[in-house]
Amino acid sequence: MIKFKLNNEERTVDADPDTPLLWVIRDEIGLTGTKFGCGQGLCGACTVHLDGEAVRSCQTFVGDVEGLSVTTIEGIGSKAAKAVQTAWQSLEVPQCGYCQSGQIMQATALLTENAKPSDAEIDEAMNGNVCRCATYVRIRKAIHHASELMEA
Ligand code: FES
Ligand code: FES
Repeated sequence: MIKFKLNNEERTVDADPDTPLLWVIRDEIGLTGTKFGCGQGLCGACTVHLDGEAVRSCQTFVGDVEGLSVTTIEGIGSKAAKAVQTAWQSLEVPQCGYCQSGQIMQATALLTENAKPSDAEIDEAMNGNVCRCATYVRIRKAIHHASELMEA
């Protein structure tokens, strides 16, 4: 049995410790906002927060989150997360939407650490999050907008 916190609730799962966290979140617990893209740590679609840091849940073993706190797109609610979600909506960032929960998780982690990132810092933080619809320009604008909203 592996115990961890998911979106602020204690969870106990009966899974092999080598199971990717992504499978546990989606298939066992049924939270499907976190997406499967590449399964190899290359696209960022599966990004969640582990004790506040953005991690790829396809590359994180559930055994390694024992006792830690995992947050998915369904559970974010911080000031940075709210600003990101509002900015994403006002700038209509998503196209197909598939990559966007990962983008939002990554952007939220960035703004939590650095409330006023430069273009270069945004590009560096976001460059592992692939978007097949190439929404990158809107993503960068939305992160700047979220940063302004956090200041207001
Ligand atoms: S599905 Fe995890 S990085 Fe692509
Ligand atoms: S919005 Fe379609 S993959 Fe990013």
